[in-house]
Amino acid sequence: MEENMIEIDKALCDGCGLCVTVCPTGTLSLMEGKAAVSGEESIFCGHCEAICPRKAVRVTAIDEEMSRYKTFITEKQWLPPGKYSTSGLVQLMASRRSCRCFSGRPIDRTMLEDLVKIGITAPSGTNSQAWTFTILPTRKAVISLAEQIASYFGRLNTAAEKTLLRLFLKLTGKGELDAYYHGYYRKVKEALEEWHGSGRDRLFHGSTAAILVGSKPGASCPVEDALLATQNILLAAHSMGLGSCLIGYAVAAMKKEPSIRQAVGIPPEEEIHAVIALGYSDEVYQRTAGRRKVTPRYFEGQQP
Ligand SMILES: Cc1cc2nc3c(=O)[nH]c(=O)nc-3n(C[C@H](O)[C@H](O)[C@H](O)COP(=O)(O)O)c2cc1C
Repeated sequence: MEENMIEIDKALCDGCGLCVTVCPTGTLSLMEGKAAVSGEESIFCGHCEAICPRKAVRVTAIDEEMSRYKTFITEKQWLPPGKYSTSGLVQLMASRRSCRCFSGRPIDRTMLEDLVKIGITAPSGTNSQAWTFTILPTRKAVISLAEQIASYFGRLNTAAEKTLLRLFLKLTGKGELDAYYHGYYRKVKEALEEWHGSGRDRLFHGSTAAILVGSKPGASCPVEDALLATQNILLAAHSMGLGSCLIGYAVAAMKKEPSIRQAVGIPPEEEIHAVIALGYSDEVYQRTAGRRKVTPRYFEGQQP
């Protein structure tokens, strides 16, 4: 562990041991009645700092700037379990809808930057926080990504039109192109015709910004981390007055085509896991919509 990444003010520490109790890695212990850094395995989760009643612990690896927002004020006070309105939370979750009709109104960059900060309040495997965020702040930027993606799908459709190629690949155990042909080819063809004809944007739905969520190498759970941050962003966007839509087509193209990632400034070693279209929504709903039935199963433990 890098030196001084966790600082303990011995004058303030009264040796209560709370930081030792909550440390998930056994990094802290009590020595001569005071908290001390004795382990090497810190994941810098900040539990020790957050629990200390005397503000004696500081995790210097944590960047305070990441918890300062420009577009709203929030409390630093920790909310104990049960101290938030479940009803309000569920209404927010159910009210978030995938927006497919954005107005042309641009989004202030400070909102986009705040959304990234809200994204990273999500948990991450071993607190690796190896996520990455690429902000496309304008409609112009979204259109240039859309053009790259349209060109990728144009090439894919040309390949998918070749019946013999599809069948050959399928026979050699690579059924992807054939599955694409049957599942998506026609829809994509129509969307591309509209994009090149009338300019209708069936990919990003006219969004005026986007956030691409990815990962750097070295995370234990890169996909999960990125998607948890993504869900935070979707919910926060709704609460901040923005519409959002995940664009799976863009993720598929960016995963397959390194040149598209490169074109938006993403380094070669990074992966992309979510593309979030953002903008002001032109859609007005009368009520929330439900979901199909799901029945959880129970497991009560093995019979003795
Ligand atoms: C991984 C993923 C990829 C998606 N990709 C697209 C997409 O490319 N285009 C689109 O319009 N919607 C896309 N969606 C939105 C879904 O269609 C939408 O979440 C679903 O219909 C439920 O509606 P809701 O988000 O309004 O609750 C995607 C959603 C997810 C979770």
